[in-house]
Amino acid sequence: MKILGIETSCDETAAAVVEDGVRILSNVVVSQIDIFAEYGGVIPEVAARSHLEAILPVVDKALVDASCSWDDIDAIAVTHAPGLLGSLLIGTLTARTLAILHDKPLYAVHHLKSHVYANWLNAEETEPVFPLLALVISGGHTQILYMPGHNQFEIVGTTRDDAVGECFDKVAKILGLPYPGGPSISKTAKGGSEKYNLPHPKVKGLDFSFSGLKTAVLRAVQKELGLPITHPSHDLKNHLSQQQVADFAASFQKTAIEILVEKLKMGLEKYPDVKSVVVAGGVSANKALREALPDAYFPAPALSGDNGAMVAAACYFEIKSGVEPTDPYSLNIYPRISIED
Ligand code: KG4
Ligand code: ZN
Repeated sequence: MKILGIETSCDETAAAVVEDGVRILSNVVVSQIDIFAEYGGVIPEVAARSHLEAILPVVDKALVDASCSWDDIDAIAVTHAPGLLGSLLIGTLTARTLAILHDKPLYAVHHLKSHVYANWLNAEETEPVFPLLALVISGGHTQILYMPGHNQFEIVGTTRDDAVGECFDKVAKILGLPYPGGPSISKTAKGGSEKYNLPHPKVKGLDFSFSGLKTAVLRAVQKELGLPITHPSHDLKNHLSQQQVADFAASFQKTAIEILVEKLKMGLEKYPDVKSVVVAGGVSANKALREALPDAYFPAPALSGDNGAMVAAACYFEIKSGVEPTDPYSLNIYPRISIED
């Protein structure tokens, strides 16, 4: 079964063709990172307009790269939620139009499910075993999911405030590192020492909190520079040496990873039947995190971020689990479906 997956939830316009949920026949990702690096973050209106320009050529290239015609495509899968409203609308409206035009079944797929299923792509020989815990860490979410089987999700831990990816992005901004913050912190941390002690939040159970860590970095930078807490955060970068930036990046990254690993360990104690751990979402590209969790499944680094292949993979396992197609005429991104649906 060949599925065309379409993803436009944030700042990547992506489409891919995946066979039987695991074999990638094509995977096209057009990123808007260059546009938003200038602004230091995503501007939703600009993202939606960029999706509109890119979406049809991206879908076309995904078919050409996979050597497929429309006759070869069995279904269309599209990211339905969560994400930026304008960005999601471009993907969902394109997908429903193509589904009606080419008479294909349409599936509206939850973005976090898709991230989890990136772990099944090109992993036929060593695929994760159920029940499993999935650590989903992206720019918008930080969750631990318990999955007893395919397409069965129970949220057992979630962030009370910021997502870990958002925290990487905000700390990078304080340190004057380019957007997106995750890759730039990871790169800069290599030259730094983990010399600053940053606190771990005291959140009960498997829940997370990352807003305090961001503030802790801010306060530590102000203290290091001998500046008052009223000093504007956007100016701190002008006072930091390259070495101080690297040391703060290293100390922050170490603490963020420790927090994630700690909660995951607590999760494994709470769910002793778990047979594997999968890590998913943009932050799963982080090299130091991969080293800290040698027994966990990670997607190929290129599949950690947003892409269409993971959407097609998630759709395949939905179909196998008996999920019915979405009526293209009623596809509406509200009400938002929950990951437990
Ligand atoms: O999954 P994703 O591409 O988009 C969302 O669904 O949010 O995740 C984007 C997030 C950003 O916050 C980015 O800074 C972070 O993933 N990220 C990383 C790395 N690469 C991307 N965080 C830490 N280390 C990385 N290497
Ligand atoms: Zn994502």
